[in-house]
This record gives sequence, structure tokens and C-alpha cells, in this order.
Amino acid sequence: MRQRLVVGNWKMHTTLSEALILATSLRNSISEVGGVRVVLCPPFPWIVPVAEILTHRPSHLKLGAQDAYYKEEGAVTGAVSAAMLRGIVDYVIVGHSERRRIFKESSTLVNEKVHAVIKQGMTAILAVGELTRVHHQEKRHHGRPTRTEARSDITTQLEEGLEGISKKEVGQIAIAYEPVWAVGTGQAADGVYANHIAELIRKWLTRRFGASLAGEIPILYGGSVTSENVEEFSGQPELDGVLAGGSSLKAKEFTALCHAFAR
Ligand code: 13P
Repeated sequence: MRQRLVVGNWKMHTTLSEALILATSLRNSISEVGGVRVVLCPPFPWIVPVAEILTHRPSHLKLGAQDAYYKEEGAVTGAVSAAMLRGIVDYVIVGHSERRRIFKESSTLVNEKVHAVIKQGMTAILAVGELTRVHHQEKRHHGRPTRTEARSDITTQLEEGLEGISKKEVGQIAIAYEPVWAVGTGQAADGVYANHIAELIRKWLTRRFGASLAGEIPILYGGSVTSENVEEFSGQPELDGVLAGGSSLKAKEFTALCHAFAR
């Protein structure tokens, strides 16, 4: 049975004290949620203090990082390597659309990061989405690209992001489908559309790794998920969880997302 995953990407939010308060209240509320793995991704400087405050956390509550550089060490000002995160977090988000857009991350870099995260024994949450079609936003209903456009963008990102990943590494991969037009806009995709894209992703993974391994890779949806709309996604057969931004900063809200995916 595929792992269900609810991931909270805190992005560049929270002060240290807010981070500790949020983590503490989630430790308590998440204890009661079963059948789903919950991953908190605080900003880099808060990861260790959050890990300390979560020392006695339930085993299904994990920590993640929002990014990691692929080189182990060296003259790379401002970067944090996957090697440094080893033993502190279990998951790393790689290729988030904000990294691709704001920091101009190339697919080659994203691929190197995926390899580094896996090599260090963590799981890479590879974010993909129809990045290049954002300029269609004004022209189309809610800025949604056609399915054909979305398919070609996502296929390219999967091919490039997972290049060189072997079958034995598949257990260290999760895919997050995050359409750019839905991230932080309050305009979530509808569940049927997100499930359709997840099916396309699963088909691609099946061609690449075979049905049995592909069937084990969690596929998440991300983009304006709230407690109000989460049932749209938790009710879809191909979606194994969500990657939440804004909703992950409120304990009650985020706990509701976790409950929606609990078995
Ligand atoms: P929002 O949930 O704020 O739309 O952000 C989604 C996201 O980018 C999570 O990585």
C-alpha cells in the first residue's frame, strides 16, 4: 500500500518562537492522526530547534527541508548541502516552482539535487507543474492550461528531474504536482483535474520504472489546499497526499489536512 503523505512547506515564514509554537501544537494534534505520514519543512535556521522540540514526537511525524544543494561541501556561499541535512531531516523538497522561478534553477540542477538527496539516504519530493504556461493566465479560465500543455511540461520535468535514477532508488522518491497557477493564489485545481494529472504522472512512472515500483511512489497535489477543499483531493484514487504552503502555518488547519488523508 502506498505511503500517504501530508507535507507542510513553511516557506520563508515564521519567527523562531512562532516555529516552536507551531511545531509543539502539531506534535500534540498529529499524535492522534493515524495512517498518514506528516512532514514539516521549516525554514533552514529553524530545523534544528524544531527537531529538538520534537524529540519525543510520534514516529509518523517527520521533518523535511525545503531545498538542498547537491555538492557535499565547498565554496558555495549561502547553500546548505544534502550531506549536511543527513540525520536531521528525512525528506527534502526539490524543484519547487519558487526555486525554479525566483532562483532560476535549471532542470539539470534539480536532477543533481534529487541524486544528492537520495545518496544521503533521504527522500526527494520532486515538485513538478506546468511552469512555462503561467503567461496564459490572463487568457484562460482561471489561468488553467490545456491538459495537453500541462502534460508536455510535466513529462519534460519528470524526464529531466529523474534522469539517471535507478529502480532501486524509487523508494526514495515522491512526486508533488503543483500547478503554478494554483500556488498561493487561492485558486486550487479541482480534484478531478488534479487526479487526471496524477494519472498521467503515474503512467509516465510506469513506463520508466515498471508498474509495480511506480505503484509505490506517492503522488501529492499542492496549490491552495485548505481544510475547505481538501476532501476534493483526499477522495481521489491517484492522490496520496498534499503539499501545503499557507495552510501549513496554522496548526488547526494543517491538522485538518492530515485528518483528511488518515486511514
Ligand atoms: P499554497 O498552499 O500556499 O498555495 O502553497 C503551495 C506550495 O507551494 C507548497 O509547496
